[in-house]
Amino acid sequence: MPGTILVGSQWGDEGKGKATDLLADKMDVVVRYQGGNNAGHTVIVEGRTFKLHLVPSGILYPHVTPVIGDGMVVDPGTLLAELAALDAQGIATGKLLISANAHLIMPWHKELDKLTERWLGRQRIGTTGRGIGPTYADKVGRLGIRVQDLLDPGILAKKVEAVLRERNPLLAKVYNRLPLDAEAIVEEYATYAEALRPRIADTSLYVWNALREGKQVLFEGAQATLLDVDHGTYPFVTSSSPVAGGALSGAGVGPGWIERVMGIAKAYVTRVGAGPFPTEAAEDEAEALRAAGDEFGTTTGRPRRCGWLDTVGLRYAARVNGLTELFVTKLDVLSRLERIPVAVAYRVHGEVTEDWPMTQTEIHHAEPVYEQFEGWREDISGVTRLEDLPRAARVYVDAVEKLGGVPVTAVGVGPGREQTLLRGIGEE
Ligand code: IMP
Repeated sequence: MPGTILVGSQWGDEGKGKATDLLADKMDVVVRYQGGNNAGHTVIVEGRTFKLHLVPSGILYPHVTPVIGDGMVVDPGTLLAELAALDAQGIATGKLLISANAHLIMPWHKELDKLTERWLGRQRIGTTGRGIGPTYADKVGRLGIRVQDLLDPGILAKKVEAVLRERNPLLAKVYNRLPLDAEAIVEEYATYAEALRPRIADTSLYVWNALREGKQVLFEGAQATLLDVDHGTYPFVTSSSPVAGGALSGAGVGPGWIERVMGIAKAYVTRVGAGPFPTEAAEDEAEALRAAGDEFGTTTGRPRRCGWLDTVGLRYAARVNGLTELFVTKLDVLSRLERIPVAVAYRVHGEVTEDWPMTQTEIHHAEPVYEQFEGWREDISGVTRLEDLPRAARVYVDAVEKLGGVPVTAVGVGPGREQTLLRGIGEE
């Protein structure tokens, strides 16, 4: 079976771009299945760094067809700007396909994302402000506007007018903002329509044909398991389904095509935005991790909250995604620490549990039970084989595997492609 799903197993920013780079040589198609330009993937190819937000990272490899799947939300202006920037860097972007079913981020979505966050005050989610939540809300509320609507100017105008009849009073009366001009928006989106028309496709059909021909397809998740709208730390989540199940509906394929589900876990944990984070480190330790790991958001530049590896969360990610293997990234960032805490369980209201708690209240009250691992006081960024890692680092990787319950098939020791140590099926 030629399908591989790549999914973040923490709160995002695990280094999925590095995993894509590792797998890209063998892939024919790379599909992003959810989210939008809230994502930020840093991919380093042959020493050049690319920062992608909306476009699947498959675009960086000439032999790959990159696909924006049905489950994504697309800000067309941002997409065109990202494509122009890639063109300017010498990347051929002509093969990109965009699902006709994907939803469009409209100006009112971006405005409402910022307004609701302000309205929520201290209870805010800390969104990226890109309009993601309001666009998905309109999708399930059946008020969304889709990429295919760009192909029919009459329908586009009708839909924009209908939505604004409802949205403009909300903007004006609740939020004290100026109403939006339907005509100007339709005009703006008509220019996007012209530019995007040749790329709009039935991508589910395209991917199905590719799979039937035995081509290798990578389903590239953005954000991560603990930000999943159903399985994450709701309401402090994104509005889509990053988990492996989301890849199926978000790309329009059946489960029988999937052979591998690769989880990506950083050797420690970070989180951007608000919400519970049981293993968050004390500020001085977090500061050190942030500096060593360069933990600042690719999309918003926000400093990321930093903490220790949480194997309660990892086991949960293994379960809800059905992970078949794990790529542990950024092990080098932990070098030179004397001791490395790893959460093996939580204490919740006095009781110790190894399972992810059922309720948000319990997650908010979860205190990590740490096991301390010995550090390695040497630079490991030049190591090329797993067996050449210092003993303490090998013990750490083995513990991640054992505690996570998933075979570790790749370990990252630096940003470059050659700084990935492989074992088992990642090596074939
Ligand atoms: P939204 O996706 O912009 O609605 O933001 C919802 C939550 O998801 C916020 O806590 C964001 O910081 C977080 N988030 C969204 N995209 C990413 C990402 O790519 N990496 C890490 N966190 C993200």
